[in-house]
Amino acid sequence: MRIGVLTGGGDCPGLNAVIRAVVRKAINDMGDTVVGFFDAWDGVLEKRSMELNVAALAGTLPRGGTILGTRRGSPYDSPDGPARVQKNLHEMGIDALIVIGGNGSLWVASKLHADIGIPVVGVPKTIDNDIEGTDVCFGFNTAVQIATDAIDRLHTTAESHDRVMVVEVMGRDTGWIATHAGIAGGATAILIPERPFDIADIADAVRRKHNRGRYASIVVVAEGAMPKPGTMEAPVYENDPFGRPRLGGISSEVARAIEKQTGYETRVVQIGHIQRGGTPNAFDRVLSTRLGIAAVTALHDGASHCMVALRNDDMVRVPLENVVGKIRHVDVSLYDNVATVFFG
Ligand code: F6P
Repeated sequence: MRIGVLTGGGDCPGLNAVIRAVVRKAINDMGDTVVGFFDAWDGVLEKRSMELNVAALAGTLPRGGTILGTRRGSPYDSPDGPARVQKNLHEMGIDALIVIGGNGSLWVASKLHADIGIPVVGVPKTIDNDIEGTDVCFGFNTAVQIATDAIDRLHTTAESHDRVMVVEVMGRDTGWIATHAGIAGGATAILIPERPFDIADIADAVRRKHNRGRYASIVVVAEGAMPKPGTMEAPVYENDPFGRPRLGGISSEVARAIEKQTGYETRVVQIGHIQRGGTPNAFDRVLSTRLGIAAVTALHDGASHCMVALRNDDMVRVPLENVVGKIRHVDVSLYDNVATVFFG
């Protein structure tokens, strides 16, 4: 089999570990050839690729980012895109694609399968952890650890100065990183998209903590968190070149409001892309490796339209139609029954 592989969407710790596992399994065990496309779908549209072999992947297991590069665009952005993909894959002798990506890339993979009939296997990637059908996406665990380490450091400076620290983490539609890092980091309050917040409640939580003599608080905010209508002005975001709101900055508004309502000095930290950069942790290296191997095995078993996934510690295949167009939200019982116990 001649397998094409690409990485799409935002980068994420563990991408290279998946590619490495695909290459090892496909070449050494299955006798396949593997072609890596550069810059996601751009590489397929422009026939920019390289033949991958075991030597080319040496040393990449702990490396962050993706050796193939990544982009957010889609072949469906131009009218002749899908036909060009079909022609190029045919000319290059590609039998099947492994698409390592998030909700956007998996949507494209699924649509291309329907439109041009190419077998595709998806691998769920995003630090946001919001892909339906898998218990966890690779990269999430590392991002939570990075955010937790940052919160640990912020505690000591907040305590030294008797300050409130508002820490903004990624999480466009869901509050997975915020909830996990907030619990792990001992947050006084956690704001997530799934639970619109009333800033007065957050100020109360901070005040309660201060009234107990603890003059420092950490408030963790997911970038996609929103105030309840009428409680605070909702932030307005510009769109990025792909028509998605360019999030970031809600923490500043939250900090201003907390300072105004409590009188406590409040500072802001946006962790931003640090959460996505750098080496994957051991959990994500193992998960990425398992997913890469499972993707190749799925293709050889004739699976042509699925995503490989982790469920109850087993590798499973989920039909792509059960994945695309959906968002996997935070387990609200974790938020409501665990995280909130420590608010204030
Ligand atoms: O990959 C998802 C994500 O990390 C979101 O949480 C965040 O909003 C977005 O990527 C940022 O994307 P970009 O790298 O394009 O700024």
